Amino acid sequence: MTPGTPEPQGGLFISFEGIDGAGKSTHIEGLAQAFRVQGRAVTLTREPGGTPLAEKLRTLVLNDAMDAMTEALLVFAARRDHLQQLIEPALARGDVVLCDRFTDATFAYQGGGRGFDLQLLSILEQWVQVVPAQGADFIRQPDLTVWFDLPAETAAQRLASARAPDKFEAQPVEFFRRVSEGYLQRMIESPARFARINADNSRECVWQDVLKAVQIKGWLA
Ligand code: TYD
Repeated sequence: MTPGTPEPQGGLFISFEGIDGAGKSTHIEGLAQAFRVQGRAVTLTREPGGTPLAEKLRTLVLNDAMDAMTEALLVFAARRDHLQQLIEPALARGDVVLCDRFTDATFAYQGGGRGFDLQLLSILEQWVQVVPAQGADFIRQPDLTVWFDLPAETAAQRLASARAPDKFEAQPVEFFRRVSEGYLQRMIESPARFARINADNSRECVWQDVLKAVQIKGWLA
């Protein structure tokens, strides 16, 4: 299958990943601002979610008990709607799409964390992310995935002092070790797509690393 590549008209798709407590949010906002300053239109979105339907599915996935397959099917259903309604049109307009989590999170959380069949996830990935307009075997993938990597123990300490946990945030530290392992596997499979950031650092250090990961690609001055 053909991996995703930047649109000829300049659309860019960047995803942000990491275990809960890795501290992605402020940096995603910062990057959105940096792109806007350079005159780029930015679509800021998240998964599961990003459209009215996908946000309803998010509420179910984050709050209701269900088995790993149901969880995987719901996140991929949400992703399908998100791609069709929001991401593909934004890329076609030439926007920079900044997405808080994408399919790597499914491989990490449902695959690594819950132990769900990775081959089945790959099949769903091929079905859901195909873009026939770009070629019969074109599978949409981020042009860059920024992975905020930090030890599960550190993330757990950060989360302990935060708001009431959702279903995933309430998982034990071993779950997040498996999620991290899931991210690592995805990075090993697609090293050129990933920028691994050491998130166990000061906010300013992490920000500089995020900025560098995008500048190296030539997408920001
Ligand atoms: P998160 O992105 O951390 O948002 P917030 O910081 O607002 O809580 O929450 C999304 C949760 O959903 C996170 O715990 C990971 C989980 N998730 C999956 O389990 N599978 C997926 O495919 C995606 C996209 C997210």
